[in-house]
Amino acid sequence: MKVLTVGGGGREHAAVEALYRSGAEIYAVMKNANPGILKRSVKHLLCNEKDVEKVCAFAKENGVELAYIGPEAPLEVGIVDALEKEGVKCAAPTKAAARIETSKTFMRELVEKHNIKGNLGFAHFDNAKDAEAYLKTIDHEIVVKPVGLTGGKGVKVQGEHLHSFEETMEYINEIFDQNIGGAGVILEERAIGEEFTQMVFVDGKHIVPMPLVQDHKRAYEGDVGPNTGGMGSYTDGNHLLPFITQSEREEAIAILQSIVDAMAEEGCPYHGTMYGQFMLTVKGPKIIEINARFGDPEAMNVLPILKTGFTDICWKMATGTLDDKVEFSNDATVCKYVVPRGYGVKSESGHEISVDEEAIAKCGATVFYANVDMVDGKLVTGTSRSIGVVGIAPTLEEAEQNCEKALEYVKCDAIAVRHDIGTRQLVQRRVDHMKELRA
Ligand code: AMP
Ligand code: GLY
Repeated sequence: MKVLTVGGGGREHAAVEALYRSGAEIYAVMKNANPGILKRSVKHLLCNEKDVEKVCAFAKENGVELAYIGPEAPLEVGIVDALEKEGVKCAAPTKAAARIETSKTFMRELVEKHNIKGNLGFAHFDNAKDAEAYLKTIDHEIVVKPVGLTGGKGVKVQGEHLHSFEETMEYINEIFDQNIGGAGVILEERAIGEEFTQMVFVDGKHIVPMPLVQDHKRAYEGDVGPNTGGMGSYTDGNHLLPFITQSEREEAIAILQSIVDAMAEEGCPYHGTMYGQFMLTVKGPKIIEINARFGDPEAMNVLPILKTGFTDICWKMATGTLDDKVEFSNDATVCKYVVPRGYGVKSESGHEISVDEEAIAKCGATVFYANVDMVDGKLVTGTSRSIGVVGIAPTLEEAEQNCEKALEYVKCDAIAVRHDIGTRQLVQRRVDHMKELRA
């Protein structure tokens, strides 16, 4: 089947590999020349991924039947609506359905209106003055979020990034002054616990869950520093995480099913991968955010262990015919992102980077190219995350070791990696944290 893919990051490379493996003929659109995607595609187009007209023309001229869209930005401008008009089936949500991610206020209000579990207290503001008045009335810690898209970098948490009323107001003013996210500010109750990602395949009605993943948003080892798009992530062989029970996971899955039901009821049925980010608290899983796509890096954990054909799953998501026959292997995975030095604050980009794919495969690992580009025949780093290295093995410990061995075969003189991700020490800290909270 001819499949259009949109996006040039690590998540999209992982998706392209899974599509290719299951027989798809790939037609790729991306803004950077991702060498992993180039290798698997019969034809590609380098252009702005939000240029709906160009993407549609490329799809039409190549007669693609199915589309996979990686990032949220093209969803926000209605790429799915336009492709569907051309007769291309899409394993991704329409502009209206993508609001579950593109408007944090839409998501919170939908969950509230339909009495879905897992919501947090929230208030939306269109100006700093009203936000300030509200802030003076509350006595608990909050999280400040631009309502619109910010590439995962716009959230600041009281007690972590913001340490006083003044600092909080300073950030709220900055959001309005610089129009960050473009749609106002939402102040949310701060949830305390351990974060986890539950992604599901959705066909408008039915959902099929993927293994649980834990991402690491903070830039530096020990979970400190600014929020990033995600520095790395792990899954365990039993598809749970060491600090969560099966029934807590089922609660999170039920929340996602309720959201899918609510969206169908609201006249914007959801098709594609849905990403649920939750905080496991002592009162069960609370919704942190819902995204209209795979997580990045989380896609790089789950797609390599997907045993069922991904092309078939995408077709079924697009056409409302999903069944439960989706299987993942019982391997653990550890993904560590190689990022440009300074990432999270100010990236140093444009450095040559080399990857020995064969040596990496011999380590029991695999590599996904992300924000790198080919310049004069050389692979160079961009300003965003460069390369995802994923160790795969029967146990978490081995997967982490495989990842570390493989990282030695990625060479560049201006990169950073969070080596603590997936280590016994860090995982144990999460288990202990949850134990403490439950006590
Ligand atoms: P987001 O971009 O919404 O995923 O937020 C980035 C990070 O901020 C999350 O991974 C959490 O660590 C933190 N965060 C966001 N919302 C909340 C919340 N309501 N309570 C506690 N932490 C949050
Ligand atoms: N890993 C977080 C995200 O994709 O939003």
